[in-house]
Amino acid sequence: MWWRSDGLPGRALFSSDRTDGVSVAAEKLSGEIQEHGYWGGVRDRIPLAQTDRLDPSGELSLETDPSTGLVTIRPHGNLCLIRSGQDWTETDGDERRMYLEDVEPLLHAGMDFLRDDGLEIGCYANRYLRVTTDDGVETDKSFGMSWWRSLEDLETWSESHPTHVAIFRAALKYLSTMGLDARLRLYHEVTVTEAGQQDFRYLGCHDRTGMLRTRPS
Ligand code: HEM
Repeated sequence: MWWRSDGLPGRALFSSDRTDGVSVAAEKLSGEIQEHGYWGGVRDRIPLAQTDRLDPSGELSLETDPSTGLVTIRPHGNLCLIRSGQDWTETDGDERRMYLEDVEPLLHAGMDFLRDDGLEIGCYANRYLRVTTDDGVETDKSFGMSWWRSLEDLETWSESHPTHVAIFRAALKYLSTMGLDARLRLYHEVTVTEAGQQDFRYLGCHDRTGMLRTRPS
């Protein structure tokens, strides 16, 4: 069963009725939804996408302040952000082993690919993060967070690139083995933003940090 968060500019898809990420601020969770389980579901969950392709508009700009070295990047319109979360806190035994040994290494490889080589397929920046407690102890939660030139580039990677196709297949095998007993929780939170809703600032960073790699060489 899958749920969707409502009342925020982005839309999230959850494999359980517990929220995470920005969706904790959502007005409510929908009931069980139909817009999942097929490629293109992510677009169908964004109401504006019914009448708008959400293609990139305008240009991304980069400005360096010569006196401080501060670099500011102002993205074009319809930049796309995805936060894809995994929570294996409540898994144990075979289920935990299956997630950590069969699924997570594929996720890690996909995250490394987007971090190192994603730019040419429209992924401006990618980070694979582990959630920690306030005193820095790692929890059983992680998430991938990436910024894309467009929703379409993100869709193309997810449905056709070997790294996500491998993750997707492993997930289907996992879910079909565990059935309704699965205790792994997954969510995808996708936002398409207007130009001017965000900028990115870098001071003293190496030139591949985050969005800095969009700088023409
Ligand atoms: C353990 C990690 C992951 C698992 C198990 C997983 C699994 C899945 C599954 C099962 C779907 C189909 C969902 C549906 O029913 O609509 C899906 C779709 C998708 N995934 Fe992942 N995924 C993972 C990580 C990621 C990451 C890290 C990203 C991006 C950075 C991502 C991007 C997407 C997108 C954009 C779709 C929607 C495609 C569409 O609707 O056309 N996934 N994934």
